[in-house]
Amino acid sequence: MEKQTRYLTFALTKGRLANKTMELFEKIGITCEEMKDPDSRKLIFVNEEQKLRFFLAKGPDVPTYVEYGAADIGIVGRDTIQEEGRKIYEVLDLGFGKCRMCVCGPESARDLLKGQELIRVATKYPHIAKDYFYNQKNQTVEIIKLNGSIELAPIVGLSEVIVDIVETGSTLRENGLTVLEEVCPLSARVVVNPVSMRMEHERIAGLLSRLNEAISKGGVNPCKS
Ligand code: PRP
Repeated sequence: MEKQTRYLTFALTKGRLANKTMELFEKIGITCEEMKDPDSRKLIFVNEEQKLRFFLAKGPDVPTYVEYGAADIGIVGRDTIQEEGRKIYEVLDLGFGKCRMCVCGPESARDLLKGQELIRVATKYPHIAKDYFYNQKNQTVEIIKLNGSIELAPIVGLSEVIVDIVETGSTLRENGLTVLEEVCPLSARVVVNPVSMRMEHERIAGLLSRLNEAISKGGVNPCKS
């Protein structure tokens, strides 16, 4: 009897990243018609012919699904990979979702980053912020975890600076803030479960090499829309 091919399961980051991912996948012949129905309430989408399954998850949950093997492969921002610190392999930069993790604040806060001042840092990314200030800058700071609209924090006096994602820079500009230091560049990445990488090596390596080829031919538009 012929061996039944098992489904390869993808966890995609809901929203813009998932749309860009499917755009890129289409370029290498991977499609999922079911996913294109905007009225669908389905959570899992299947391509029977290619034995692929896709589901959409919140960014921070994608590395969790991949670490536990509920998804073989995940597509997620590098910011989330760094922040979550899961046991997964980061194997490919997809070249879209490009932005930067930065320390931002009013220009007047620039000097506070030069010395050993005990400042407050608001962020949605406490692990990244802690690693940057403690391990790279050797500056002791108080980190305050927020869940969104981080730019508010220095404006209303919650913190002196923030660690946040900067893409176009317009949120900063419109709120009188600026980039003070760059922590790291970011973009969408492919992550893989270590066991899947061994067990499904041929299929996953084949997929990665086709993705690589599509990226080297121009990939998808790296911008926001
Ligand atoms: C992100 C980030 C900044 C903004 C940067 O927020 O936290 O606020 O985008 O983009 P820009 O440089 O192009 O202005 P997001 O829209 O994800 O919402 P959030 O504030 O709830 O995190």
